[in-house]
Formats: sequence, structure tokens, C-alpha cells
Amino acid sequence: MHILRPKGTNDILPSEINKRQYIENMFRSYSVLFNFKEIRTPAFEKTELFSRSIGELTDIVSKEMYSFNNNEFTLKPEMTAPVIRAYLENKLCNISPVQKLFYISNMFRHERPQAGRFREFSQFGAEIIGTSEPIADIELIVFCNFFLKKLGLSNIVIKMNNIGNLNERQEYIKILKQYFLRNREYLSHDSIKRLDKNPIRILDSKEKQDKEIIDNSPKIFDYLQESSINHLNSVMKGLDGLGIEYIIDYKLVRGLDYYTSTTFEIISEDLGAQNAVLGGGRYDTLVEQLGGKPTSAIGFACGIERLLMIMIKNNFKFPVENRIDLYLISNNIAARSKCLEIALKLREHGVICELDLAGRSIKSQMKEANRINSAYIIVIDETELESSYVKIKNMDSGNELEYNINDILNFNFKSHENKAG
Ligand code: HAM
Repeated sequence: MHILRPKGTNDILPSEINKRQYIENMFRSYSVLFNFKEIRTPAFEKTELFSRSIGELTDIVSKEMYSFNNNEFTLKPEMTAPVIRAYLENKLCNISPVQKLFYISNMFRHERPQAGRFREFSQFGAEIIGTSEPIADIELIVFCNFFLKKLGLSNIVIKMNNIGNLNERQEYIKILKQYFLRNREYLSHDSIKRLDKNPIRILDSKEKQDKEIIDNSPKIFDYLQESSINHLNSVMKGLDGLGIEYIIDYKLVRGLDYYTSTTFEIISEDLGAQNAVLGGGRYDTLVEQLGGKPTSAIGFACGIERLLMIMIKNNFKFPVENRIDLYLISNNIAARSKCLEIALKLREHGVICELDLAGRSIKSQMKEANRINSAYIIVIDETELESSYVKIKNMDSGNELEYNINDILNFNFKSHENKAG
């Protein structure tokens, strides 16, 4: 019996890889434009890093982590905690007080797989560490919006909230819990489960039954102090000034405990139930929580699979893979060596060459050259071996040109590129 891939994981085949590479390359180049520097961290970390930062009671830590070695290590379910761990461990704050870092990496969460929700998925994201100024929030949201717009996403909505600092939130959660307790009998089963340990997450519930109760629940804004309100107003003003549209959603609390102050998500109608393509926010106490000096920070991460779903749905024109320039066909050992020699010479000059590696007949090699859509072919047999001339055949026009092999570098094997499209 064939062994199949684990549930909730994906094979990314050569026919699909160009789409991911496109997104990754674009994200890298736009990160450079905004002066973010790339960071890479291990695939697994000490479990404690995630339980301390994401929070013991969150879905991720309580039931979705891939932990091993007696729970000592965990495959990373997200990147913010590893980035902050690396920031502290490598004393990046000594290099510059404000660090702008970006990453592209695979994440692992033991979730129930469904459309847009996997057990292994990829994220790209960025973190600005070392500033509490609202301009950092604006810069980050601008970056997200700028990048998604460059990828042709038009049907997206930015949702934003301010969930206050720890004191404000504690006060709010107390009131919120009392409110939900008073309405306990009307809440859904899942919300009742959250009531005791994480009542704020009830605001996230998508259950119809909870809607009215949530709509009438106390709002965080009534519990924010002046500095939090000013922060939110400054971020809103900055976005307004740049013409970036957003909606304020007081229910946007996010599923990770490290968040403080600004939270945001970008959602798309083109996704199903899992409609968030990107999420992020401030985490002004995380650095300290992990043993560093008080350091404010903000970041976001975007799910590449969800982004791809939207782009494919919108018929985004991904660049096609480079066409093979030349297929070298041979019919015996000596001719094959000659093909290798010519291919190497041409590859040194950027010509994309392929040759037969399976000892196939000339006819099958011709078929293969057609199948892979090679722009040109050259057949080497006894005649070509004896003379210094080869015939270069243009596969589009069928024209053949006799060419001196010693001058082969002068032939333009890339001429087909000008005709593309
Ligand atoms: P998150 O909301 O857990 O935030 O994930 C960010 C994005 O990753 C989601 O919007 C979604 O596109 C994608 N994603 C999450 N889980 C899955 C899944 N199971 N399958 C497919 N895609 C998924 C974070 O991870 C935070 N670390 C973001 C952040 C960075 N906050 C501050 N800095």
C-alpha cells in the first residue's frame, strides 16, 4: 500500500511551485523596499517559549501544538515568539534600537483540516521591535496593504481594534465575564466552555446563537484610558491621511494572548469560513515577559495558502516558468558526450539546456523536446561529430539553420522570449 502524506499537509508540485515562488520573491523584494531584514529561526523551539508567550489557555497551546521529546520541544506554530527569542538571545537591540525583521516559514498546528486550514502551512510576516509610536502601527498596516494590493487583491477589508493594555483589559474582561455569566443559558456550547478561562474569546464566536449576546456586550472602548484612545486615534488619523480604508471592529481580539493595544486583520470574501488572510497586532509586553527589557513591538503574519486561494480565485496571472531554450538530441555515446560539452558551454552563458538522460531513441527524444516545449533543438549524430557544423532547428517555425559549432555562443537561443505573449 502506498504511504500517503499526513492529513492537513500539502505537496507543492513543480507545476504549482511558480505561484509560491512568485509570492515569496515579491514579499522579499517589498520587504527590502520597506527596509525589513530577513530572519530565520529553527523549525522547533523549547515548548515553554510558546506556552509562555501565546498563552496556556489559547487553542494553539492547549490543543494544537506538535510537541515531542517528553514535551520539551515543539514545532513552531507561529513566528512571533521565535523572533523575539532570537532578538533577545542575539542581543539585536544593541545593533539598532528599532529592528524591522521579516520571515517566510512553515508553521505547524494540529487543527481540524478544512478549506484554508492546514496542519502544516506557510506564513510570511514582519515584526517592528523597539517602538510604541503609532507611526510603527501605520507603517506596518501600510506595508500589508501595499503588498496585498500589489498582488492584485482588491476585495479585502482591513479590520482594526485596540484591546488596551493589561490593566484595561483585565478590568474589561471582568465586566465582560459578568455580562456573559448573566446570559450563560443563551450561549453556545463552545462559548460556555470559554466563559471560565478565556471569556474575551467568546467575542470571536461565529455561532449564530451567540450573535445577539455578543452584539449587546460591553465594548472595550469604554474601558480604555486616554493613552490607548489617543493611540487608536493617531493610527486611524495616519491611515485616513494616506487614504487607507479600514473598519473598526471591537470584536477583533485575536487568538494569541500576547496582544496588547492595536490588533488588526485583513479579511477577504473570497475565502470561506476561514476568512482572515492576515493577522497581527501590538505585543508591548512580550519582550519583557520573555526576560528582556520593556520593549514595545508590533507585527503581522499572512497565510500563503489562503493568499494563493484568493489569487487563484481572482485569476491572477502568475508569471509562467521559463521556457527551455534548447534540447540536445543524440543517438550514441560519443554524441551524448558532445551534447554534454555543448550544453555546459551554453549553460555557462545562461542558455537553458536539456538533454536525454535515459538513453532514449531519437524519436522519443524529439517527442520529449516537443513535450517540454523547447524553443530549439540540435540533433548530434555521426555527421555532426565528423564535421564542425550542427543544424539548429526553431521548433516554432520549423526553420533550420546550419551553424558552426565553434561559433555557437553567437546564436541567440533567447530570441523566442521577445515573441512570448
Ligand atoms: P495568526 O492569526 O495565528 O497570527 O496567523 C496569521 C495568518 O496565518 C492567518 O491569518 C492565516 O492566514 C494563516 N494561518 C493561521 N493558521 C492557519 C492554518 N491552520 N492553516 C492555514 N493558514 C493558517 C499569527 O500567527 C501571529 N504570529 C501574527 C503576528 C505576527 N502577530 C504579531 N506578529
